[in-house]
Amino acid sequence: MSQTLIDHAIDILRKNDQGSYTVPTHGLYPFQWNWDSALTALGQAHFAESRAWTEIETLMAHQWEDGMVPHIIFHEEDPGYFPGPDVWDTGRDVPTSGISQPPVAGFAVRRLFDRANDMVAATERARALLPLIDAWHGWFFRCRDPQGTGLVALIHPWESGRDNSVDWDVAFERVPTEGVEPFQRRDLQHADASHRPTQAQYERYIYLVQLFRSLGWDNSRLHDASPFQIVDPGFNGILIRSCVDLADLADRLGEPEIAARNRAWAQNGIDAMETLWNESDSQYRCFDRTIGAQVKNASIGGLLAAFAPIPKARAEQIGARINRLGQNAKFLVPSQPVDSVEYDGKRYWRGPAWLIVNYMIADGLEQAGQTKVVERIISDSLSLIKKSGFAEYYDPVTGEPCGGKTFTWTAAMVLEFLTKMKEPA
Ligand code: DGY
Repeated sequence: MSQTLIDHAIDILRKNDQGSYTVPTHGLYPFQWNWDSALTALGQAHFAESRAWTEIETLMAHQWEDGMVPHIIFHEEDPGYFPGPDVWDTGRDVPTSGISQPPVAGFAVRRLFDRANDMVAATERARALLPLIDAWHGWFFRCRDPQGTGLVALIHPWESGRDNSVDWDVAFERVPTEGVEPFQRRDLQHADASHRPTQAQYERYIYLVQLFRSLGWDNSRLHDASPFQIVDPGFNGILIRSCVDLADLADRLGEPEIAARNRAWAQNGIDAMETLWNESDSQYRCFDRTIGAQVKNASIGGLLAAFAPIPKARAEQIGARINRLGQNAKFLVPSQPVDSVEYDGKRYWRGPAWLIVNYMIADGLEQAGQTKVVERIISDSLSLIKKSGFAEYYDPVTGEPCGGKTFTWTAAMVLEFLTKMKEPA
């Protein structure tokens, strides 16, 4: 069984491979997405080590001069996607979006390096990527944490990757829709409308894009100008983990300044993360920076923070919380608790389980010694694949496949999980 899954996963990665970057899935997402690519590289490394490095190099080649790494690179024209390059209008030679995404690249590059067979090539390629990723981390702390709190804010839900999370609902009410230019969504041509964000959410997504565009995509202005500023523990957990991993890599590659800088960012972040802890939920919560208050919702974002080296006691509490969530979700980890009023088991980030988040939570909890819950997360993830194939996400109660099909990062995570489980082939 394992070998069949491995073959299937590799086949998906190959079919979605465009040569130097991989599309998340044909049709729905026809370009290069930032965190998709970094996680995809981990899967590629199992059968095409050099190609895996190329995936991240292609992404980083489109870094902006200020350090930002965009969330989409529009390598080729494709009228089947909205909002395309004309809507973003960022003025790049190869068009890109104007916002970023969870910075998994530092973590991914370290993992590629740790597992490399060709150490000469890995050293050379990691050394070239190191300052670029360092500059990206610096960009986050400079442009998304101008007050120096230690934690960065998202200024658009698409930056989190968790586009329509319940976490944004209240803050999103403050984002107006006046002046939004008429548009036609394309996602609904490729995926079931009941699995996707609503029209009202899309109008606000586009409002924010138009606002930032009107400010010339000047990142020294966007944070303060945005009516949406959310500090997401999951996003910050990824950034902190990437800083820690980049620091370790920098030490090994003889770059002490990069190491010291990233270690300091990580430590500040870990200290500040404590302000997001919510004792009654036994997990972290988002913080709405615009109004200076914690968001009254306990989603998967507060569990994903465990990807960072948070205090062991916190990781233990998160492990226990995930176990409790598993009492009414057959398949861990639901992106929104199944017993919450807002839970919607098929709608993107309002309930479904996602393998990439499962992978990052499991990785962090494993480092904290939470092996039992990690085993259940991995076993549930593989059960979803066996039951429903390589979908974008899954209903955590029924296990039904949702969103796009033959999904790249799902396939990459399966290769990672199977290697980890060391199941007999
Ligand atoms: C989409 O188009 O759904 C993406 O999540 C935006 O990046």
